Amino acid sequence: MNGSASGRRPALLERIGAEIRAAGPIPFARFMDLALHDPDDGYYARGPGRLGTAGDFFTASDAGTAFGESLARQLLEMDVVLGNPPVFSMVEFGAGRGLLARDVLDGSRALDPAFAARLACVLIDRSPGMREAARRNVPEAEVLAPEEARGAWTGCAVAVELFDALPVHRLRRRGGRLVEVFVDLGADGSLVERELPPTDAASGLATRYGAAPREGDEGEVAPGAPALLASLAGALSRGFVVIVDYGDRAKDLYGPARRRGTLLAYHRHTASEEVLARVGEQDLTAHVNFTQLEDEALRLGMTVLGSTTQDRFLIANGILRAFEEDDPAAWGRPERVRARLRVLQLIHPAGMGRTFRVLVLAKGLEPRPLLAGLSDPFR
Ligand SMILES: C[S@@+](CC[C@H](N)C(=O)[O-])C[C@H]1O[C@@H](n2cnc3c(N)ncnc32)[C@H](O)[C@@H]1O
Repeated sequence: MNGSASGRRPALLERIGAEIRAAGPIPFARFMDLALHDPDDGYYARGPGRLGTAGDFFTASDAGTAFGESLARQLLEMDVVLGNPPVFSMVEFGAGRGLLARDVLDGSRALDPAFAARLACVLIDRSPGMREAARRNVPEAEVLAPEEARGAWTGCAVAVELFDALPVHRLRRRGGRLVEVFVDLGADGSLVERELPPTDAASGLATRYGAAPREGDEGEVAPGAPALLASLAGALSRGFVVIVDYGDRAKDLYGPARRRGTLLAYHRHTASEEVLARVGEQDLTAHVNFTQLEDEALRLGMTVLGSTTQDRFLIANGILRAFEEDDPAAWGRPERVRARLRVLQLIHPAGMGRTFRVLVLAKGLEPRPLLAGLSDPFR
């Protein structure tokens, strides 16, 4: 780790301070964009070291290969709906280290070699360091920066834990009105919160979706979500979009159970509310407003095929096969036991299984296709 002893990036702090001194307090979303994506010192821009066991947080692809294998089954069904195109592309936005693509490619080879031979992966990430790791992990993939992604691919655009990393504006209700939390400099030059009248982008979304409805409530909105969804949709000539992330419909996201909002910092597998600390050294993330994504999908002319919880999506796509074992001699083998525990991590209803939702959209597909992953295995 190259930060100072107090765990922050001094040059990045200085750039943020200079911006505030020049133009006044900045919306939290601007601060979050710099903290995560500053080209030299941003948390993600610096590469893949922050994800996984030795980093700050896990994603589904750190929990073994089962997530990717289940997604491969879903892609295989989509391929049939699309009439087995000569090339079926999985275009992954925010692909990070490429771990999911690796598991999808390997899983599809075991599932159906003919499909695997037509399956191509395009991995898109904003971070040069992540793209380098993705090239290493998936040498057969095309790895692109977002601005290079100008394809008209047929297949499925995928985003896992991407929308939660979008910069958010923070809103609070004070004296019956919405105020926005900006980032300012305190008397000693440290970063402090400053409540100011909200920006138009933030107040428009907060009003539309009912963020921070009661006195003292806090909530976040992500004005960047429509453009990001448009780039996923725009990457496809025809096909599906699968978005996996933690989040909720607006009424629950901004409901009584979440009165302090959902913004959190992650550092070494510990969540904290110290979102102005360890600038560039910790992840910042907020739950996704799935109602906003559905609204935007409709506005883009897409079909909302449905949304479900991660446990249902993975179970409907066969993840419990990991528990089938014909050979009793293999039941207690440590690697099998560990693989099954990792599957449990992904589907446990008290954990990732229900915190994560899966939204599935279609573009240019009539009649509306039915997909196994959206069927409810509990009914
Ligand atoms: C939380 S990580 C998830 C990585 C991977 N999907 C996984 O599940 O392991 C978010 C990733 O999205 C990338 N990212 C953030 N904003 C992006 C954008 N607008 N376009 C493409 N990638 C982006 C980051 O660089 C980072 O690699």
